[in-house]
Amino acid sequence: MQDTKQVERTDERDVRMMDASLKIAPSILSANWVRLGEDVAAAERGGAELLHVDVMDGHFVPNITVGIPMVKWLKTCTNLTLDTHLMITEPGRYVEDFIKAGSSMVSIHVEADPHILRTLAHIKNLGARAGVAINPGTSLTHLEEVIEVADYVLLMSVNPGFGGQTFIPRSLERVRRLRGMIEERGLNTSIEIDGGVDTRNAAEVVRAGVNIIVAGSAVFGEKLNPEETVRAMLDAGTQWV
Ligand code: DX5
Ligand code: ZN
Repeated sequence: MQDTKQVERTDERDVRMMDASLKIAPSILSANWVRLGEDVAAAERGGAELLHVDVMDGHFVPNITVGIPMVKWLKTCTNLTLDTHLMITEPGRYVEDFIKAGSSMVSIHVEADPHILRTLAHIKNLGARAGVAINPGTSLTHLEEVIEVADYVLLMSVNPGFGGQTFIPRSLERVRRLRGMIEERGLNTSIEIDGGVDTRNAAEVVRAGVNIIVAGSAVFGEKLNPEETVRAMLDAGTQWV
């Protein structure tokens, strides 16, 4: 039996994920963690609905970041939907802890989990949205067997591991093909793009078929104003969704 807290969380995520409107998911990876709460609040004022949490294990990707305690703390300081991107091997071992800590969206890499269907089902059974993430060098054909189970696809537009990298131009073509796969199957899967997106290319990715934009350095980079940047991204992309 689900406890009440879990049911509340499910309702909240349904409101935010069911419609195809453009959503910005600022990534805390590029934020100044000394003033994280203030920066997150500023991004929310700008219109962000999601908050992207990049979890790296130094094994699946060559970098180490944060884990379950960070999600727990974020949950106490923001109402944004916590969108957790697991760049870790054996993600199935940890999804339950992340969801209990407050992640309403959890994505796992197709390259990292030999039992991905089981893990995606597990995420959904625990009351969260399940995402399948894919690296720029992995063929989209790997999604064919899993796309019907996933609520969203996180398409990496840089090689995962670091913020502030340059958008790989080929990603636009991949978004278009992925949108085609989704439409062919009559699904309403969201496409989240992650890496190198800023106010200059936001409209282009949305036009290609994206409806969730992750943005780290473009929102939280030094000397930037998170509120204004999120608003500018929404303005740039909204005409295409
Ligand atoms: C990279 C992460 C991204 C990163 C994006 O591996 O998955 O979410 O924070 O950062 P920017 O937007 O700076 O490319
Ligand atoms: Zn990410």
